[in-house]
Amino acid sequence: MPKCVIAVTVLLFALSLPALAFDDELGQVAGISRTCAGCHGTDGASPGAMIPIIGGQMEEYLTLTMEEFAADQRPGSAMLKFAKGYSTEQRRGISAYFAAKPWVNSPWAAASSVQNPDLVRACAGCHGSSGEGRGSSPRLAGQAPEYLSHALLEYHRGERPAATMRLMRAFDEAVIKLMADHYSSLK
Ligand code: HEC
Ligand code: HEC
Repeated sequence: MPKCVIAVTVLLFALSLPALAFDDELGQVAGISRTCAGCHGTDGASPGAMIPIIGGQMEEYLTLTMEEFAADQRPGSAMLKFAKGYSTEQRRGISAYFAAKPWVNSPWAAASSVQNPDLVRACAGCHGSSGEGRGSSPRLAGQAPEYLSHALLEYHRGERPAATMRLMRAFDEAVIKLMADHYSSLK
């Protein structure tokens, strides 16, 4: 075989390696996502009142929150175990996988019709004017109201570490419920 043919063959083989590794990674991530579907629904479109929708959520937020579960920095029963079962790379891959899925509003959001734009003025700068999310600030629009209340109470009690959400300490439970209903109704 002429030298140049050998060189081209070797080069083509080398080029195909990263692609193979990438396919492997995708297959692995799709496999992991089936573990999540039992609770978070198909493609992360959770039908539960207390289990958050993760399909179509902000990628940066999903990555951040998976790291928080893995490091025991955020409360969560099943999630503490699930997040620790994967490497940082796998947690990143699975976050990207779910972020790329379409967002499907919670069936529980249909019951929320109360809008209180005055109550949530301070939130729009980070979460977007319609609660659509931005960067590490998660999407809130169309999320289940009960889950949103539960999450806000965790910030209120100082159980989740994010300094950005420290403002929740100032609001009581009744106001928190109204904020949750507001964002849930923005579907
Ligand atoms: C046994 C049920 C169960 C399984 C399986 C499960 N989760 Fe969860 N997950 C939950 C519950 C419940 C919460 C809410 C925890 C809380 O904040 O109190 C949650 C929260 C989350 C959150 C936080 C979302 C947010 O809006 O803050 C992410 C991200 C997440 N899960 C990803 C995953 C991934 C990825 C998998 C699969 C590897 C998975 N979960 C498997 C029950 C589950
Ligand atoms: C300075 C930016 C900022 C402001 C202002 C802000 N947020 Fe957030 N919010 C964030 C970030 C960043 C996170 C993710 C933090 C984490 O990792 O826990 C978050 C998380 C949340 C969550 C958790 C969602 C989930 O899926 O678990 C809710 C609910 C929420 N914010 C509602 C609000 C409300 C209501 C207000 C206004 C009263 C508000 N936020 C104001 C940046 C902000």
